[in-house]
Amino acid sequence: MTVCEFRPGLEGIPAAQSSISYVDGQKGILEYRGIRIEELAEKSTFLETAYLLIWGELPNKEELEAFEHEIRYHRRIKYRIRDMMKCFPESGHPMDALQASAAALGLFYSRRDLHNPVYIRDAVVRLMATIPTMVAAFQLMRQGNDPIKPRDDLDYSGNFLYMLNEKEPDPLAAKIFDICLILHVEHTMNASTFSARVTASTLTDPYAVVASAVGTLGGPLHGGANEEVIQMLEEIGSVDNVRPYVDDLLQRKAKIMGFGHRVYKVKDPRATILQNLAEQLFEKFGYDKYYEIAQEMERVVAEKLSGKGIYPNVDFYSGLVYRKMGIPTDLFTPIFAIARVAGWLAHWKEQLAENRIFRPTQVYNGRHEIPYLPIDQR
Ligand code: SDX
Repeated sequence: MTVCEFRPGLEGIPAAQSSISYVDGQKGILEYRGIRIEELAEKSTFLETAYLLIWGELPNKEELEAFEHEIRYHRRIKYRIRDMMKCFPESGHPMDALQASAAALGLFYSRRDLHNPVYIRDAVVRLMATIPTMVAAFQLMRQGNDPIKPRDDLDYSGNFLYMLNEKEPDPLAAKIFDICLILHVEHTMNASTFSARVTASTLTDPYAVVASAVGTLGGPLHGGANEEVIQMLEEIGSVDNVRPYVDDLLQRKAKIMGFGHRVYKVKDPRATILQNLAEQLFEKFGYDKYYEIAQEMERVVAEKLSGKGIYPNVDFYSGLVYRKMGIPTDLFTPIFAIARVAGWLAHWKEQLAENRIFRPTQVYNGRHEIPYLPIDQR
């Protein structure tokens, strides 16, 4: 076996062979199963794209209808999960509530039958169908309200927005939300997907796989950045404050949230589409001063950091879209998870197909042959 040099963050080291998605970080290209993200955002729906990723091909009409039907009729959550969620502290972060709820779902389906396609299909449907319901339920319950039952006549995105706001969503907002889910569903070997694959490689159940990935997505260097971007734009407060704010961050060697990427050295193609979606919302529902601040920030950061290939990533403009829809800031990352669960499940399936447990090595840099010192001599 050849010994590889240690690379912090496993930069540049392939962790799996995968045919699910592809990124060209120099050209700013993202494909799902070979199809460009721009084309899917324009022509597909979230559920159709999820099907493509999980089962490898675009569904025909019957396959898509069957998948949509199954998801639609599995959206309700068990009363015991709902009662458990009621006991969560209202001050808890919705990502933590989601991680606990996704793991709890596994309690009801603890029999693992990983070689059975029916088991796999059921798990995919159950997780994709109930995760939006869990996110919406926690949002209402932490405000002291009862959760709203899903509506079978609404599509995936329309139903989520309905469960969140207790009213039918505006059709443009629902369409844009669905495109946001397409943009967030999958992204090669990112940290949460790696976490999902490591967990999957032990042959544990898919609920544990998703729960571990949710926990990983929540951090501010990963999916949690979308929440921090809005907090940063609010803190900046005006276009004039952008330059001094950026200068101060750079002087302190702090990271600017929503910028930079391990793979992209140009603007993330998803950020370009999200910016365009935000503009569509502002046109219909009114201007947002934070958009001007964001644009100025993009200009200033490009001026200072384009030499390092640092441009807006997916998390920079998504928050402005969700904010205009009236979605609370701490739900941005759970919404990322609603989308990404399909990507994680595609990787779960792929990992199972050619599984070998992840067990990398380490470079030990500690001491050897140290005698045990009795406690009264330390
Ligand atoms: C997501 O991997 C994926 O695909 C993830 C994702 C997905 O869809 O799954 O795309 C979603 O997680 C988007 C990223 C969200 N995170 C943020 O926006 C947080 C801010 N960004 C950074 O912390 C950073 O850019 C990362 C975490 C995204 C990437 O980290 P890397 O690859 O480990 O890069 P690094 O921290 O080692 O930085 C390399 C250089 C450093 O400068 P030097 O020391 O070499 O001079 O670039 C600089 C960094 O200081 N740098 C930044 C910066 N990002 C990198 N400087 C200021 N602000 C930044 N945001």
